[in-house]
Amino acid sequence: MNTMTIAIDGPAAAGKSTVAKRVAEKLSFIYVDTGAMYRALTWKAIKEGVSLEDEKGLKSLLNHTELNLIKNELGQRVILDQQDVSDQIRTAEVTNQVSIVAKHKEVREEMVRRQQELVKDKGVVMDGRDIGTHVLPDAEVKIFMIASVDERAERRHKENIEKGFPSDLNQLKEEIRKRDEIDSNREVSPLVKAEDAIEVDTTSMGIEEVVHTILGIVKEKA
Ligand code: C5P
Repeated sequence: MNTMTIAIDGPAAAGKSTVAKRVAEKLSFIYVDTGAMYRALTWKAIKEGVSLEDEKGLKSLLNHTELNLIKNELGQRVILDQQDVSDQIRTAEVTNQVSIVAKHKEVREEMVRRQQELVKDKGVVMDGRDIGTHVLPDAEVKIFMIASVDERAERRHKENIEKGFPSDLNQLKEEIRKRDEIDSNREVSPLVKAEDAIEVDTTSMGIEEVVHTILGIVKEKA
């Protein structure tokens, strides 16, 4: 059980990371947020002026980038070249461009290699878009989390308001739709439910209910 791998995939803002984090805590597993890795590279590319359409340029940038996902007193943090960029990678500027960076084959190959490296012989919960299909094809548990676009936008909107961030519900819906469209239609490992994944529709479920459902599935497989 303590080397089990759990893959959680699904569209943007479906609550994957919140749920994955809780499931990992409950099981004392490590949690790997793969979206944060693509976000961190996007942030660095924007900062360094590398075009987000330049596959070779992005791959070379990634080759010269140290990325660490750590847990400290502030919670899960993303460290890029020794700098904590956890907040910077959640801005609208990064969120609305990350899918362009994530389209590139060479970038994905390197990211997948690093992600696989992180989980050797460990109990892990990993979330993303291609975990069950490419990163951990042999994961014991594969979950595909979905929710309607309206529900996902409402959740994000509420979160923004709570954090005191400006937020426009219709704009959020549009951004989520657009990101899903790029992620689902790209040539390399598009967002798709793995054949052996269990679909969990969280539209009318609370976080604890989703966590409970997933833990139930894990228990059955253990
Ligand atoms: O999960 P999150 O919303 O932070 O992911 C940000 C973006 O990173 C996604 O919209 C997608 O373009 C990309 N991504 C990916 N493959 C993953 C995780 C994230 O392509 N495994």
